[in-house]
Formats: sequence, structure tokens, C-alpha cells
Amino acid sequence: MQKILVVDDENTILETVGAILEDEGFQVATAPDGETALKKMDSGPLPDLVLLDIWMPGMDGLAVLEKIKEQWPQVPVVIMSGHGNVETAVRATKLGAYDFIEKPLSLEPLIVTIGNALKFQALQNENIILKASTGRGPVRELTGTSPAMQALREQIAIVAPTEAWILISGENGTGKELVAQNVHYASARKDKPLIDVNCAAIPEELIESELFGHEKGAFTGASSMKRGKFDLANGGTLFLDEIGDMSLKTQAKILRILQEQRFSRVGGSRTIKVDVRIIAATNKDLEEAIKNGEFREDLYFRLNVIPIEVPPLRDRREDIPILVNEFIEEFRRENIKAPVRSVSSEVIEALKQYDWPGNVRELRNITERMFILSGKSEITLDDLPATFRSGRGSNAGAAESDAASCAGLAPCLRCSDFREARAMFEKEFIASKLAENDGNIKKTAESIGIERRHLHRKIKSLGIVT
Ligand SMILES: Nc1ncnc2c1ncn2[C@@H]1O[C@H](COP(=O)(O)OP(=O)(O)OP(=O)(O)O)[C@@H](O)[C@H]1O
Ligand SMILES: [Mg+2]
Repeated sequence: MQKILVVDDENTILETVGAILEDEGFQVATAPDGETALKKMDSGPLPDLVLLDIWMPGMDGLAVLEKIKEQWPQVPVVIMSGHGNVETAVRATKLGAYDFIEKPLSLEPLIVTIGNALKFQALQNENIILKASTGRGPVRELTGTSPAMQALREQIAIVAPTEAWILISGENGTGKELVAQNVHYASARKDKPLIDVNCAAIPEELIESELFGHEKGAFTGASSMKRGKFDLANGGTLFLDEIGDMSLKTQAKILRILQEQRFSRVGGSRTIKVDVRIIAATNKDLEEAIKNGEFREDLYFRLNVIPIEVPPLRDRREDIPILVNEFIEEFRRENIKAPVRSVSSEVIEALKQYDWPGNVRELRNITERMFILSGKSEITLDDLPATFRSGRGSNAGAAESDAASCAGLAPCLRCSDFREARAMFEKEFIASKLAENDGNIKKTAESIGIERRHLHRKIKSLGIVT
């Protein structure tokens, strides 16, 4: 049931509006002045909407509004203003009120405005959460018929519905994030957010504000209140990725909050209680890291309630054909004009011989490149990258050496023809960016700001060999 807090110094308003809203199916709380309203919001569960009078003795409605927007920007506020006070009401909307209704109140506009405000806010919140979420579930399945993959799927089916915390370990690109998504979307929390925190990517000094959020003015540059990842994940799952890459200092901070499941925003004093399920992932050997004094043992034990190990691709080579076919299907859906429909059995054999240091991600990247570059309906041996055919090294290494040959602008400048120079530059530029992103086309396209399909065409037309 949605909860509305009505704030007015006139008792009759509190009573009549309260009764109307209850009839409409809302749960109603009331406050006779601003201070009481703020106290109620601070201590109790937050209302879904505040209906706020402007003229009140003591703290007036505008001041209350400002405080609410500062502390709880996600709660919509509808202002009630006396007849003829349109100017004040306009000021209120500038301060962040959703809308205003004029007194004396009549039923219809009151209900319609409240309904709109709640709908609008639900969309806003969903947007914020989607932006911070990893994937949008329901996610893709974990493909593979190997005993290891079957066991992994069974393990997920068993542990997902429990509330147990999970530690996923596995080499780069084995599918740890996919496992985390599969766990979340098979759990009772599936309709709540799955929020992703890449622990390795957050600078030490920002970690607290990233995880816990900050109040407006907490530090230079904190121009508005920001909700942290723990806040956003409330009721859902927090995916702590790359936990092996956190500094010891950050580990201590994370441990404290995992123990308490409550925190305050940076620069704030209010304690926020959260209910989150933690799934952590790492490609490091944490037991080794503990021995070396790089990882806290107490944090390890707290996170490692249920360990899930994702096996490297070289230990389940029988999954390669089905994975390749699935990737081809996926690329065909995105690029229906491409001629490729299948992969020859010789290519599959060659792929099975390779050691896949980059695991499923590397397999996906190589398949994508062959898909783009091959102009035939079947991918054959001559479509395999040269380094791949001759050696067992990582393909990303090949792309890197390509980029290393980049001599900057000099060769482009020696050209007299503009088109030729541009093509030369584009080729060097794209090869180097591909190498930076380990050959990942999607990531490269995003990082240089062009569409993935456009990048496909460029790679093909410029003959970028990786
Ligand atoms: N079993 C699988 N079936 C289908 N796709 C898979 C499977 N495993 C991994 N993938 C795909 O491989 C890519 C890499 O997977 P993911 O990002 O989950 O790996 P990761 O272990 O988190 O990698 P990293 O250690 O680099 O963070 C993704 O595109 C993912 O969809
Ligand atoms: Mg990952």
C-alpha cells in the first residue's frame, strides 16, 4: 500500500484529506508542522509522497520542501497553496515540488495530481536504478552441455532462491557476471535491482561516496545529494565485482558495512538501514592473496558463504561449438545483411585446440571478427586470424602488436591524397582502440562514440587484421 504524508497546521485539513486518501486506498500519516514532518521522514519508513501546505507557523512549506528535496530527492512533493498564491506555488515547483493544488481542495484534482506524481516518480526511480544496474534481466542462459556447465547451472538453481551470499571465482571472461545475473534473476529478489559495483574501477577517495552516497555539500563538487550503490540496491542484490583488486583500506570499509548492513551518507548523520544480498566476484586466488597479506581473511569468510567456481573454457572444450553457434545467431539478429550462416567443422576443430586465455569473452570476440570479415556464408579456416592459426597465444596480443606499429600521424602526413591519409589514420586509430579494449568490438565502438555496425563496416572496408 502506498503511503502519503500530509503536512498541514489545520487539523480539519489533516482529517478530511486523510479520510479521502484512505478511501482511495492509501495509507496516510499526518504532521501538524514542518519539523514533525521531517522528523517522521527521518525516523520511519519513507512515504511515497508528501502533500505539503505552504503557510504554516514556524518552518514554512518552502523551507520544508527544500529540506525534503535535499535529503530524499526520490520522494515527490505536492504543494497545497491558498487561492491567489500562484506565485509562491511556482517558486515551489522551481524548488522541486512536483505540482501544486489550490485550496480549497476539491477531490478530483487532488486524486489526479497525486496519481500523476506517483507514476512520474516511479518512472524516475526506475530510470536511476536501470542506469546503475548491470543487465536488465531476464538474462541469457549459461550455454554449454559439458558436465561442468551442467553442474554450474544446477548449483545456481539450488543457491539462487536462498538468501545466501555468494563468492564467484574464475579466470577473466569465464562468465562470472553472467552467473551473478542468473543467480539474481532466479531469486526472490528478481523484481528488485541488481546493482553492479566494479571495486577495481573506483578510486580510493571516492569509494565511500560511490557506495554510500553523499549529502549535498559534503565535499567540494558535491552539488547535490547522491544515492549510493547500497541505497540503490536496497531490497535487491549488490554485485561486488573484482573484489580482489580493492586496497586494504577499502576492504576495511566494505567489511564494516557488510557487518552492519547500515551506513550513513558522506557528510550525513542519519543512519540508513539496508537489506541487500551480496554476490562478489574475483579472478584472483584470494587464499593466496590472504597469505600475501593483500586480502583480509575476515572479509573473505564473510563473503565466501557459498563459493561458485566458473571453470576456464579450456577445461570444457566441448562447449565451444554450441557457444560459437549461439554467438553467430546473435550477430545475425543484429546484422541481418551479413552473409555468414555457419562455421566449418575444421574451424570448430581449430578453435577446440586453442587454450583460450581470455575464455568465453575471447571466443566471442574472435567469432565476431570472423563474422564481420568473412564474406561467405560459411566461416572457413582462412577466416581464422593468422596468429591464432599459427600459435597458441592470446589473440589480444596480436591486436596489441598491430597497434604498437602505429607511428602516430607521420605516415598519414606523408600522403598527398586526403582520402588515403584519412583511411590510413582511421586504420591505425581503430586498430589501436581495438587493442586497448582487448579486441572487444562493442566496447571499442562505445569508447570511440560510433555505432557498433559502423565499426563493423570500417574494420571490413579498411581490412583491419587482428
Ligand atoms: N556459458 C556462457 N554462455 C553464453 N555466454 C557466455 C557464457 N559465459 C560467458 N559468456 C559471455 O562471455 C562474455 C564474458 O562473460 P562475463 O562478462 O560474465 O565474464 P567475467 O568472468 O565476468 O569476465 P571478467 O573477469 O573479465 O570480468 C559475455 O559476453 C558473456 O555473455
Ligand atoms: Mg566480470
